[in-house]
Amino acid sequence: GKTLVIAIDGPSGSGKSSVSKEVARRLGLAFLDTGAMYRAVTWHCLNAKIDLKNAAAVEAAARTMRFEQNLTPDADFVKVNGINVTEPIRRPEISQNVSAVATNLGARKELVRRQQAIIAECNQRIVVEGRDITTVVAPNAEARLILTASEEARLRRRGRQLGGTQTAAQLAEQVLARDAKDSTVVDFQRAADGVFTVDSSELDFAQTVDAVINVVRRAV
Ligand code: C5P
Repeated sequence: GKTLVIAIDGPSGSGKSSVSKEVARRLGLAFLDTGAMYRAVTWHCLNAKIDLKNAAAVEAAARTMRFEQNLTPDADFVKVNGINVTEPIRRPEISQNVSAVATNLGARKELVRRQQAIIAECNQRIVVEGRDITTVVAPNAEARLILTASEEARLRRRGRQLGGTQTAAQLAEQVLARDAKDSTVVDFQRAADGVFTVDSSELDFAQTVDAVINVVRRAV
């Protein structure tokens, strides 16, 4: 069919992943969670005892690791060198260390290159979500949007996602401190020219999906 790349950026806890997945399902598109790639590199470094402060070693890890991701929105999994890491990459230990990879410009360059190759392999029919998709990975996407939500809504959602196992301070560290660190490399909070914003603070899941699909229809 016609090419349709939908680029979605936003902070953690905005509902980005689940909303992007559902949009991909509804429109019959592939789905790429780029955050999972940053998490996978982080997991690999911790697993292989690669010092996350050693920028050259982290960059080399990003270049050499074998990385597989299922691009269908229904059964997504992530494998690193053949090991299924779908569950471990979501652990707080990874969230707390992922900025070492996200702030590594060599690693970013490598992951952006891999993401652009995946978009091409999908014949440019894909929903891609992350922090730099609207600006760096797919600036020419047919539809580009930022999915955002108030700090309060984001903390509440991430708390629910983690099954109420985290204290308020742990949640704030995972959501707000991570966003602050991420903002030093990529500006994902403010929409670039031609990028739409959907604020999901007052919307439920189905309403947020509809709002995103409406933006896509208007854009294409
Ligand atoms: O989306 P998620 O919270 O899983 O992303 C994990 C981390 O990966 C983010 O906190 C950010 O540091 C990094 N990331 C990034 N650029 C992207 C996607 C994620 O820097 N496009």
